[in-house]
Amino acid sequence: MAIPRSEYLSEVWKDGIFSNKVVFCTGGAGSICSAQVRALVHLGANACIIGRNAEKTESMAANIATARAGSRVIGIGGLDVRKVEDLEEAAARCAKELGGIDFCIAGAAGNFLSPISGLSSNAFRTVIEIDTIGSFNTLKATLPYLIESAKKNPNNGTNPSTGGRIIFVSASFHFKGMALQAHVSAAKAGVDALSATAAIEYGPRGITSNIITPGPIMGTEGMARLGSRDAEQSGAAFKKVPLGRYGLVKEIADGTVYLFSDAGNFVNGEVLVIDGAEWRTPGGM
Ligand code: HXC
Repeated sequence: MAIPRSEYLSEVWKDGIFSNKVVFCTGGAGSICSAQVRALVHLGANACIIGRNAEKTESMAANIATARAGSRVIGIGGLDVRKVEDLEEAAARCAKELGGIDFCIAGAAGNFLSPISGLSSNAFRTVIEIDTIGSFNTLKATLPYLIESAKKNPNNGTNPSTGGRIIFVSASFHFKGMALQAHVSAAKAGVDALSATAAIEYGPRGITSNIITPGPIMGTEGMARLGSRDAEQSGAAFKKVPLGRYGLVKEIADGTVYLFSDAGNFVNGEVLVIDGAEWRTPGGM
């Protein structure tokens, strides 16, 4: 069933701004990344989403395609971002079937709540491998296509349709440290550092690399997983959003559209925190 625009995209964006653009997204069947991709597809892009679960990924791709008549959305399931060869194959297929890769979203993540005492070395490594190495693998696999896109669509201040963009989906846990999230905090700190470095190394080729950091967003897997921490800690953490509410997936999608649109051409190496200032509060993330 088609999801109404009001659930994944604000009215402010103009239809067609991403015509002829292709987005490659890991974790694309998840609640946040699917909204990001759905918004881009609505505005003209075609897409390739990657996931571990084949059925979930393929059915999400078909559902995202309903955002715009005539769109092409490929779902490649059964892939693991820990294997760079999986991603290289998927990127090659995306480029072959859709004509290239202009935008990349590295969104695949792994998370569970555990005190350091309950984390085995393998548990810690697993999250580093999914989040940090998985993001690196995604970057490695898509870079040749992003470079090509940036060459064809230069970010020179006058071109109205640029290409060669990457967004890593991160978290704010490591800004202050967070109980039960040592593994994810360490992993996401690495992702932030990777993005900043990519921004500097590939900026000269016209590529931008930025982070989006979602806060507590309603209806997401992250909230479902971290919700149990609330119960453990007397509900303290999520009650302190200065804006007085949780976020919406559409608010993450809007940030994504901004960074990939020409309005974001000169934004590079940045961290866009979309959390209503939750992390800045005492006891916040
Ligand atoms: C302690 C745990 C554990 C837990 C797993 N492990 N769960 N340790 N507490 N709750 C340990 C296992 O015992 C094992 O260590 C090691 O982790 C690897 O577990 P596997 O199950 O073999 O790994 P794998 O099948 O690859 O699963 C990875 C996973 C899993 C991260 C553990 O949860 C997963 O695949 N999740 C993917 C989906 C996901 O997490 N999405 C959340 C995204 S939300 P030993 O020593 O026993 O071998 C998000 C938060 C955003 O990122 C927050 C925004 C507010």
